[in-house]
Amino acid sequence: MKSIKEVGDLKGKRVLVRVDFNVPLGDDGVVDENEAWRITAALPTIKYLLENDAKIILMSHLGRPEGQVVEDMRLGPVQDRLSEMLNLSVTKTPDCVGDIAQKAVDNMQEGEIILLENLRFYSEEEANDMEFAKKLAALGDIYVNEAFSASHRAHASVESITHLLPSYAGLGLEKEISALSKVIDSPVRPATIIMGGLKAETKLPVINFLLDKFDNILIGGVIANFLLEADGIDIGKSVKDDLDINEAKKIDLKNPKIHIPVDVVTDNPDKKDVNLVTEAVGNFRILDIGEKSLEEYKEIIRKSGTVVWNGSVGLFEKEEYARGTREIAKAMAESSAETIIGGGDTILALVNFGYIDDMKHVSTGGGAMLEFLSGKKLPGIEALK
Ligand code: 3PG
Repeated sequence: MKSIKEVGDLKGKRVLVRVDFNVPLGDDGVVDENEAWRITAALPTIKYLLENDAKIILMSHLGRPEGQVVEDMRLGPVQDRLSEMLNLSVTKTPDCVGDIAQKAVDNMQEGEIILLENLRFYSEEEANDMEFAKKLAALGDIYVNEAFSASHRAHASVESITHLLPSYAGLGLEKEISALSKVIDSPVRPATIIMGGLKAETKLPVINFLLDKFDNILIGGVIANFLLEADGIDIGKSVKDDLDINEAKKIDLKNPKIHIPVDVVTDNPDKKDVNLVTEAVGNFRILDIGEKSLEEYKEIIRKSGTVVWNGSVGLFEKEEYARGTREIAKAMAESSAETIIGGGDTILALVNFGYIDDMKHVSTGGGAMLEFLSGKKLPGIEALK
């Protein structure tokens, strides 16, 4: 894999950079400071290109618009935030391909930045369509992947495009690969991974592979709901992603490395704490892990030499269900282990609780980080080799 540093003379070159600016917009539709971490992660590459007088064309997805133009998923708020962070004007094109984008790129000066509109407004992006990749490739002389967090997706701007342009790894992508490779190749043991949050469809299938690499897998959030249900436990009205329950049944819950909650906090106003062994959740939702599970998880974290975390274990945005996530964050911050966290809600939680600077590595990837750690080859990274 070639680094962007190996390109040589970048002066005047049109550099097409795949970034992952899939950031939360919040209720106000604005990228707030604490939501801008994925933009921050791409800044070293952008600044490097600026210093070397390149023409910078950034491309990203935002959300899952499924091939439709969705007004709320335009990249305007990202443009504003990026411009503010760089203290430079950033132009955004209303389309990511076609005449408008082409003309804007043709008129660029050295040191200018263009942000293309949401790639996923075209279904061809997710279909890894070569014709669409050709339209994107027409906008650049070279391609840089600076989107580790989207590199588990074989999409046109991540995979097909590498067959069309000389392709390089961005500085952030290199940093991610080096930090995460250490965890796979020479972890300080015991190695523990905490998994929670949403996107069970991406996370559940990697659990069996993670068993080879980690000594403990601690589970919370929506994936825990799935596994609990597969284990025959009543989870009431708890949130589950749209996934076949048979996927959860493929995981051997008797394996002593796997820990799922034995007690939980629910939204039942009359009985918040539920012991899953002896009590039912009934008509309510599981929204955090319970006291006993939390103590067990914290004890494992304390004894670990490596702790990786992706996905909150509860609805931490609401104070009454934030305890599990906050306490795990604190236990990690107090630990001297190699602490690595990744993924949108996990980073947001750590930022909100004030522990983000205590982590040894912060990965921009959620699903991508888990897939990488499970030993799976990521299409976006393989394509650069
Ligand atoms: C992420 O947020 O994990 C990446 O941006 C990928 O998004 P996706 O899960 O919608 O492909």
